[in-house]
Parts: sequence; C-alpha cells; structure tokens
Amino acid sequence: MTSNVSENLVLVAGATGGVGQLTVAKLLDKNFKVRVLTRNASKAENMFAGKVEVAVGDIRNLETLPAAMANVTHIICCSGTTAFPSERWDFEDNPNFLEYFGLFLNPAEAKAKAKNSPMKVDAQGVSNLVEVAPQDLKQFVFISSCGVERKNEFPYSVLNSFGILDAKKLAEDTIKNSNLPYTIIRPGRLIDGPYTSYDLNTLLQAKTDGNLAVELGTGDRLTGQTSRIDVANACVECLNNSSCYNKAFEIVNQGKRPSVVDWDALFEQL
Ligand SMILES: NC(=O)c1ccc[n+]([C@@H]2O[C@H](COP(=O)([O-])OP(=O)(O)OC[C@H]3O[C@@H](n4cnc5c(N)ncnc54)[C@H](OP(=O)(O)O)[C@@H]3O)[C@@H](O)[C@H]2O)c1
Repeated sequence: MTSNVSENLVLVAGATGGVGQLTVAKLLDKNFKVRVLTRNASKAENMFAGKVEVAVGDIRNLETLPAAMANVTHIICCSGTTAFPSERWDFEDNPNFLEYFGLFLNPAEAKAKAKNSPMKVDAQGVSNLVEVAPQDLKQFVFISSCGVERKNEFPYSVLNSFGILDAKKLAEDTIKNSNLPYTIIRPGRLIDGPYTSYDLNTLLQAKTDGNLAVELGTGDRLTGQTSRIDVANACVECLNNSSCYNKAFEIVNQGKRPSVVDWDALFEQL
C-alpha cells in the first residue's frame, strides 16, 4: 500500500525527462515530499515552480551526489540517455550530419567519443547513485527496459546495437547486489507524452488515449509499448508496497483498461 506520509522524502533522478516529470507530478499529488536531482537547476525550477527541492548533480560525477542525499528515504531513478547516438550523448566535437552517419556505422567509435553514453549514464551513473544512497534507504526504484535478459533476440538485438541494454543490465545487477531494497521496472517502448525520445513514437506522437490496460510480467517475456503515464504510476504506486520489494518486473499496456487500475492487485501477482 502506498503511504504518503510527510516523513518520506523522495529523490527523483531524471526528473526533467518525460517519465520523470510525470513521476514528480504524481508524487506531489500523493503528498510526498520531493527533491529532484538535475544537471540544470533553472530548468527544474521553471518546470516544477517551487513545489520541489532542487539539488544540482550529474550522476556521472560521484562527488556531485552526496549533497543531494540528506534525509532521502526513497530514490526513483528515471534518468537515461538515448539508445542510439544523438546530441544527448554529448559528443566532444559536436558532429555534423555526415559525421553522425559515420558514428552510426561504428558503434565502438561512437561509444568512445560520447561523454553521456549509455555506459556512462545508465550503468556508471546508476552505480554512483547506489554508492552514495543512504544506508537506511527504504527503496531504490529503477527504470530499466524490457529485453535486458534477451538482448540477443530481435528486436532487442537492434535496440542494443549501442549498448543500452548492456548498460541497463549492469545497473540492475549493481542494484540487486547492493543491500538496498529495490524495485526494478522494465517498460517496453515508451508512448504518450511528454515526447522526449528521438524515435518513431515521438514522430507519430503515439498515445494510448488512456484506453489500454496495464500488464505486468516477470522473467522478461513481455514485449510491447508502455505509456509513460503508467511507468510513472508504477514508480509511485510501488513505494512502500512490500509486494514490490526486491522485484524486477516488465510493464506493458494492452487490452481494455478497467475503469480503475488496481495497482495493489497487479503487484500481488509478482
Ligand atoms: N524511450 C523508450 O522507448 C524507453 C524504453 C524503455 C525504457 N526507457 C527508459 O525509461 C526512462 C525514462 O525515459 P524518458 O523518455 O522519460 O527519458 P528522458 O525524457 O530522455 O529523460 C532523461 C532524463 O535523464 C536525465 N539525465 C541524462 N543524463 C544525465 C546525467 N548525466 N546526470 C543526471 N541526469 C541525466 C535528463 O536530464 P537533463 O534535463 O539534464 O537532460 C532527463 O531528465 C529512461 O531510463 C529510459 O532509459 C525508455
């Protein structure tokens, strides 16, 4: 059962991203105290209009993180970079169109030249968060991805061309091997806004229109699309829910949505 008592202070990494924004909104709606971890304080302050505490840090840089951890009871990690090379990979030499083409043909070079690659953000960055998390943290919630356990199978083999699933799997293992209570949430391809990724669903502005049911699975067998809204719902509904402790689960949207989604019942199946 989600508890919204005020002594909980939830740190959200990646709060300015698509799922992150929705997660913060839902936390505030449920009266959680929220601190966001961001690289860009003014962006976060404009976005959340004084409703959250803002801590400045970059998850790649360990020394920037301890100050954000004071009194934190839960961490929700929604951060990430793109699966394929993009400006979010923060290349030193700011490639032009043709140079990007070259990087697409040479994953090893792309990974070596990027300052914000999946390995640096999704693997090392998450490991840094785990390292500085309070010892008495109640729960570390991490957004991973469908496909981490079958990255050699299509379509995940393509998704993993530049190592995103390798990085997510490393992060999952780091979290599982820590002594922190954790919940790992593995969405399929994200749909519904805010459209923050560079992919077909963003181009098509793909949405569920709130019509699709939530399906959870374990063992990395589900494949499908997942609403950012339901990923954010899962991130918040799993807090303080003992059915979710030390669990990893997939989440996709399919079938007809009931009038009310019973998150407790969904989590009990895990
Ligand atoms: N797109 C998909 O289809 C898909 C599928 C499965 C799982 N996922 C995962 O779902 C999660 C949410 O996706 P999304 O589309 O909502 O993400 P998003 O909009 O791309 O947001 C990413 C967030 O990560 C932050 N970030 C990036 N590098 C950082 C760094 N070095 N230090 C601190 N923060 C950093 C960004 O902050 P700034 O504002 O500073 O840039 C931003 O807030 C991600 O973990 C993603 O990997 C995505």
